[in-house]
Amino acid sequence: AEITAIPEDKKAISDMLIGVFFEDINYAADGGLYAELVQNRGFEYTPADTKNRNPDWNSSYAWTFIGQEDGFTIDTVAPVHPNQKHYAVLTIAKIGDALQNEGFDGIALNAGDKYDFSVFAKGLDGAKGKLLVRLVDENGTIYAEGMSKSVGADWKKLTLTVTAKEAVAKAHLQVIPQFTGKVALDLVSLFPEKTFKGRKNGLRADLAQTIADLHPRFVRFPGGCVSHGDGLDNIYRWKNTIGPLETRKGDRNIWNYHQSMGLGYFEYFQFCEDIGAQPLPVIAAGVPCQNSSTGGHGQQGGIPMCDMDQYVQDILDLIEWANGDKNSRLGKLRAEAGHPEPFNLKYVGIGNEDLINDIFEERFTMIFNAIKEKHPEIEVIGTVGPFSEGTDYRVGWEIASKLQVPLVDEHYYQPPGWYLNNQDYYDRYDRTKPKVYLGEYATHIPGRKLTTETALCDALHLINVERNADVVHMTSYAPLLAKHGHTQWNPDLVYFNNTEVFLTPDYYVQKMFGQNSGQEYIGSQLSLSDKAQDVKKRVVTSLVRDAKTGDYILKLANLLPVAVNSTINLADLPIVAGDAELTILEGEVSDQHAKAETKTIAVSSDFEYSLPAYSFSVIRMKAN
Ligand code: AHR
Repeated sequence: AEITAIPEDKKAISDMLIGVFFEDINYAADGGLYAELVQNRGFEYTPADTKNRNPDWNSSYAWTFIGQEDGFTIDTVAPVHPNQKHYAVLTIAKIGDALQNEGFDGIALNAGDKYDFSVFAKGLDGAKGKLLVRLVDENGTIYAEGMSKSVGADWKKLTLTVTAKEAVAKAHLQVIPQFTGKVALDLVSLFPEKTFKGRKNGLRADLAQTIADLHPRFVRFPGGCVSHGDGLDNIYRWKNTIGPLETRKGDRNIWNYHQSMGLGYFEYFQFCEDIGAQPLPVIAAGVPCQNSSTGGHGQQGGIPMCDMDQYVQDILDLIEWANGDKNSRLGKLRAEAGHPEPFNLKYVGIGNEDLINDIFEERFTMIFNAIKEKHPEIEVIGTVGPFSEGTDYRVGWEIASKLQVPLVDEHYYQPPGWYLNNQDYYDRYDRTKPKVYLGEYATHIPGRKLTTETALCDALHLINVERNADVVHMTSYAPLLAKHGHTQWNPDLVYFNNTEVFLTPDYYVQKMFGQNSGQEYIGSQLSLSDKAQDVKKRVVTSLVRDAKTGDYILKLANLLPVAVNSTINLADLPIVAGDAELTILEGEVSDQHAKAETKTIAVSSDFEYSLPAYSFSVIRMKAN
């Protein structure tokens, strides 16, 4: 093959192309990225969280009482805060009786690490005394322990820090009152001290770092379907997720578990800032999921019009909460939570894959116009509904174009053939219409595994998108995280358990793009030998310039089972001859463990490079 740069054929492209889609699906939040180690810490689980499929999923789920029968009950009479009504009442007959939490598949401890315990507690009927806190394994071996201050007659938050003597994969937490009588407990919590960037109420360091390593330009949250919910009462309300933990309102997760909202909007925004990414909150367009079980295919309707003014105000409030001065009504709440400076919110997504009908249009238009009027500085990202072959989101596009929405969110999950046969998909897009946020996509193969094949299809698609990054401004692979044993959706970019993180071949492709983005696209011509013309679609390249470093970055995907020798002609570009950085992902087509590796290669204005069979290469070259 011959690859020849055409420097005069250049254009500015988006600097926001690669982001991440974080949805609280597959235990991505509680039990995942959110570092809380106690499951059902507020005793708020209900069978409804599982759509009543699991009656055991109730206030005492994940808890056991070691002591007399009926020594552990749930009460709602005088909670710490009315937003979390349930709390535990223990009747301690003898010292040694204990309330035990199993964590999320156990609690993993690292040798020498510190863990912050906290609980709201009050003695009932005059009972008082201290709480012994222990981390034990199933044999009763103690790995860490500490003693709290005394419980009083009113709710009081008690805190202490324990240090793990040894590592253990599956410990349990025990709270052992050192007195007899009745004691009430709520919001029983244990966090590793080593969270990502050491934040309190923070994120699991290894998972957060895995996301940071992608160098995403934005983080979309909290979903997906989680954003618009399964029915009107399940629409995600950002205001329920901020403030002191005991005041947050948990909810049924659309993926059939419980969201504690411990990982709430403050924590999402803080994380974005910590990794240098723009926050991209996605808010329901006043309508729930098109597949809402309570109504089905939009019959559920939208938020009643009489409630829409308040709903719109809540969205405007979000913008003030994020960007307002620390003395403003809502900016004050952000400042009180520990962030006096504005978060610099630029994008707000309205709607997720909604059924595009009159109900949607009416509500979306109200929200869009209100934001445009009050906050013209915010870029609203609309939605064009779920992908359906043949209609190509036609109605959604008509509405967005009429309203001149800056960007619209497209979603599609497709097999390899679709990506191979639609390489000009965005070349055909009208440049005068709204820009595109490809908010969800992935390559799906039978069995929904991620392999070298799916990774190379993602790479091929992103190369084609990069060429069109004047119209496609943002992309995010979906979904991002999945916990082994709790996965509702495959495939996902990153899998994990309590102690390990498993990267997929597709993760490496995202990382290669995230770490090698440019702001200028430079045309290039790819010529293959006559013999190879019929397989031309399986070799694709793109060339960009990173304005920040001045580097030129060449990406080459080879989806053929044979190596392709190429001559790369960059004669008219100011490339420095010498060492360049090559990052390459290659593997057997069905390999689920292919990884990217980085090495050095020699480049010049005219050099030879052999693209290995089934590979994706990124060559980063210095320029004068
Ligand atoms: O990514 C998983 C789900 O796929 C999202 O929640 C939804 O938007 C889409 O249907």
